[in-house]
Amino acid sequence: MAARIILFTGKGGVGKTSVAAASARRAAREGRRTLVVSTDAAHSLGDVLGVAIGDEVTAVGDGLDALQIDGRAELTRHWGAVRTWATRSLVARGVDRVSADELTVPPGLEELLSLLRLVELQRRGDHDVIVVDCAPSGETLRLLSFPDIAHWWLQRIAPREDELLGAARPIARALLGIGLPEGDVTAEIHRLMESLLAIRALLVDHERVSVRLVATADQVVIEETRRTFTALALYGVATDAVVINRLFPDDVGAYFAAWRERQQARMAEIGDAFAPLPILRAPYFDHEVVGADALDRLGAALYPQAPVSDRLYVGAAREFTVDGDRAELRIAVPFADREDVRLRRSGAELIVDVAGRRRTVLLPAAVADYRPSAATVDGGVLRITLQAPAPTDSR
Ligand SMILES: Nc1ncnc2c1ncn2[C@@H]1O[C@H](COP(=O)(O)OP(=O)(O)O)[C@@H](O)[C@H]1O
Ligand SMILES: [Mg+2]
Repeated sequence: MAARIILFTGKGGVGKTSVAAASARRAAREGRRTLVVSTDAAHSLGDVLGVAIGDEVTAVGDGLDALQIDGRAELTRHWGAVRTWATRSLVARGVDRVSADELTVPPGLEELLSLLRLVELQRRGDHDVIVVDCAPSGETLRLLSFPDIAHWWLQRIAPREDELLGAARPIARALLGIGLPEGDVTAEIHRLMESLLAIRALLVDHERVSVRLVATADQVVIEETRRTFTALALYGVATDAVVINRLFPDDVGAYFAAWRERQQARMAEIGDAFAPLPILRAPYFDHEVVGADALDRLGAALYPQAPVSDRLYVGAAREFTVDGDRAELRIAVPFADREDVRLRRSGAELIVDVAGRRRTVLLPAAVADYRPSAATVDGGVLRITLQAPAPTDSR
């Protein structure tokens, strides 16, 4: 059986590393051979577990291994030849070496190459569950469009490469005084492109991979988390739960009472924004979440019932497809009929009332001004067609 992969992502500081480490310890206690991996350059996983970890899989407990992926090392492993060549070319054109070094690494590539290690680890089959402590949401997401670029490259450019580069080579050499990439560089680009497609294929495999969004009940955090949820739906990656961390307990005292009330009020809104996903909750502890005991307390709070490695929501809670001036949004609405559905737009938000329950959907930026033009309900899925506004005549 290939491993289940559970990725934890969210805004910086919300508790991703704590929640990932707590989930991994709990999965191990549930008898699953578990590996917890950090791809975040912040390197705090080892500190939280209270064990030194590094770039090799290390046993850190009963049935629990840990790994801190070193993005820099992965970069050298997969992108070294391209980088050397590209840096040399830029320096030859008068770019200083430090800037050239920066320019030859596309943003997010390090993190992406870290995910590539996941493909290898999953194929190796040593673990039942791989829990991943990801980089903050923005960075992680930027990566998901890379494989699309890879796809485009392989289909459109790669077959014609010899023709294109063959024609350009003498001109480039004459004009720029540099050569076009030699065999090892193009081979490395191809290998990477293929690896990116493998990551993509893995990430959209709903049976294997689930994302859990970690957030706190603060407005700015929720807004970012909703953007992430929408982006994941757009890329076809399944989110199976939302974690709301650091909720003030009932006996928080007078000083934090107003905070607690605000958090409580926001929970309804959070439910609407992520329905029908389950919301896992964790209290604000009166101590840092470091070490085995603290992690196990957090794990027990997060998973009162279901085992960590279960798919906590089966199906696609939200899916988007965008095709030119038409987009389709699919929302899971178990047990609803078309007559039960009311739609309303409010800014970039689509408000969907289904049989007395509200779902609020943040539209992807690219279609934020599209208007709903049709809606159908079939087999528990509400399909909403969105249409681009009619182009205004500029003549
Ligand atoms: N439920 C909680 N109660 C109290 N402190 C928490 C809780 N969750 C996380 N923390 C603390 O908050 C800080 C940030 O958590 P961390 O997991 O490192 O966040 P991230 O990985 O998202 O940056 C850490 O000091 C951690 O111990
Ligand atoms: Mg962290």
